[in-house]
Amino acid sequence: MTYKHWRLTRDDDGLAWLDFDTADSATNTLSRDALSEFDHVLSALTSPAPKGLIIRSAKSAGFIAGANIEEFTRIDSAEAARELVKRGWDIFNRLAKVPYPTLALIRGHCMGGGLELSLACRYRIAVDEPGTRMALPEVMLGIVPAWGGMMRLPKTVGPAVALDMMLTGKGMDARRAKKIGLVDAAVPVRVMDNAARMMVTSGAPARKLSGLQQLMNGPLKPLVAAKARKQVAAKARPEHYPAPYAIIDTWAKYDGNALAVPAGDPASLEAIFQSPTAKNLVRVFFLQERLKSFGKASDFAPAHVHVVGAGVMGGDIAAWCALRGMRVTLQDQSVERIAPAIARARKLYEKKHRGDRKQVQFTLDRLLPDPDGHGIARADVIIEAIFEDLEVKRRLFAEIEQRAKPEALLATNTSSLKIEDIAQALKDPTRLVGIHFFNPVAMLPLVEVVDGEQSDDAQVQRAAAFVRKIDKLPLPVKSAPGFLVNAVLGPYMHEALKCVDEGMAPEAIDKALVEFGMPMGPIELVDTVGLDIAVAAGKTLAGNNAEPPRALMQRVDAGKLGRKSGEGFYVWKDGKAQKNDSVEAAAVAPRIIEPLLQAARRCVENAVVADADLADAGVIFGTGFAPFRGGPMHYLGQRDNTVVLPA
Ligand code: NAI
Repeated sequence: MTYKHWRLTRDDDGLAWLDFDTADSATNTLSRDALSEFDHVLSALTSPAPKGLIIRSAKSAGFIAGANIEEFTRIDSAEAARELVKRGWDIFNRLAKVPYPTLALIRGHCMGGGLELSLACRYRIAVDEPGTRMALPEVMLGIVPAWGGMMRLPKTVGPAVALDMMLTGKGMDARRAKKIGLVDAAVPVRVMDNAARMMVTSGAPARKLSGLQQLMNGPLKPLVAAKARKQVAAKARPEHYPAPYAIIDTWAKYDGNALAVPAGDPASLEAIFQSPTAKNLVRVFFLQERLKSFGKASDFAPAHVHVVGAGVMGGDIAAWCALRGMRVTLQDQSVERIAPAIARARKLYEKKHRGDRKQVQFTLDRLLPDPDGHGIARADVIIEAIFEDLEVKRRLFAEIEQRAKPEALLATNTSSLKIEDIAQALKDPTRLVGIHFFNPVAMLPLVEVVDGEQSDDAQVQRAAAFVRKIDKLPLPVKSAPGFLVNAVLGPYMHEALKCVDEGMAPEAIDKALVEFGMPMGPIELVDTVGLDIAVAAGKTLAGNNAEPPRALMQRVDAGKLGRKSGEGFYVWKDGKAQKNDSVEAAAVAPRIIEPLLQAARRCVENAVVADADLADAGVIFGTGFAPFRGGPMHYLGQRDNTVVLPA
């Protein structure tokens, strides 16, 4: 029997090897078709039964990326949602019950439905290499791991770790998976097939939980669930994000079987799959895929990045590029100015490499202080992030152009100067593009790729390819004041500051916007960005004649610049704004959001971004705008029930 998506072979030892190889795609996904074939494979394996079954991937991209998310968008009824869940649930239950031993050999990403398939196997082996990652990220799409994940993961690794994985959607590598018992072994690639062969025929019993873990997964469930609910409540409201609450309830009350949750229950499949949140988060997933695709138009493969300016932005950009595998030279006026950036980079690497000293050192070795700018002559990408001063930037670029390789990409990180003005300093102004990062660089996934009037299209495409290489999301924008992200944030923060001028407490304003779904209130955001920067940005966006908010100017005059100076609208201690939690939210969210929505609309009308979807993508990934609302243009369209036409 031949299959479209699977290859089944039996070896001389009586073992069956099943290779997953989704047709017409570089990535394995568990589409309706692939699952139904998998069911046939299991039928084919009934006579004669193999001595063992090893499931692996034939793709270089990874093991299994999960369910086919495209199919989610076609779910238009409660019955369709139930049918989709039942499909995977039944087949994986069948896999779990086969009389012969089964093993998932996991190499590369193993996500969602892929991990649920693995959990239904008796054994799991993960290949210990950087690409291997395992996660149940359904919660990020506003749905629940209903193909057995909610039942089997807590029984495999214990409920505390399982809930943490399912409620955050966070992934882990092979070593950590071994440590927590998610896999039975983490092995190097060269021995993987042999290790799989030995384990599947070992006769070893499947992993069992310790006594305490069994209690937590049994009589103590209500306690564990209550604690998890409390932790979730601190981060997400049930009316905004119902899925994490549904995961806890389905595990605690229905042994992880989503099909057993009755319709009408907030944790039911009907409620989850048909919630606007799930629809909007799936939409956000596809927006993200679209941003990723912008890097594909060019085959630019940079290896060396030179950054000029080791301040807040340049230092962090350089650190990020080295973390993502680039060789980086970092230039500033003196070594003393570069040193703090290197110290910050070390901290970042310690966090990212979870204290693995060797890895921290390897990464630091790629980040070289370069006060004399020797790297300019060798770099593939040169990013300027010096003071926001046109003349200084012009002088710098004139010098860079003389020393750089002719094919090197030249970019500025400027927030407020016109790319065209800076480019005038170049003999070939078409070379210059904007690559605009956001602060903090390590946290914000978006990078605006600015297409100046003079920029060559090919350079803009190379810039997008570079942004993908360092694992950020490129958003192509036209050169216009504030590009997209600052153009929408400026009027939003301005409106919030006007509320302070009218006598409202910063806490009351911030609470209202957090309740709306913003990751941080606008006043706290002003404090974080810096009050001086907010004043400068306000001038750029609104012109020098616009009346700046009084409360803002008074504080700037008093040297209260926000987080960096220890006080702005709030007093800051240990990196945290000291707030009075007892202050009630003011009813100002619609008023403060409105200017943001209108600014997004203007950016679409003025073609700063190519269409409304890209405005949504940019504002979500650049500001954290409530993802469950699907983005400002989508929100506007739904609220006003208007059709949003692309520019
Ligand atoms: P910063 O003041 O923290 O750092 C600027 C650094 O450039 C200083 O270390 C300075 O010594 C160095 N520098 C100045 N002239 C130089 C020269 N000729 N050669 C070598 N080094 C030189 O500034 P920040 O905040 O990092 O901003 C840098 C650029 O990034 C600006 O264009 C700004 O508009 C842009 N930007 C800033 C953001 C922010 O949140 N701070 C966000 C996005 C972009």
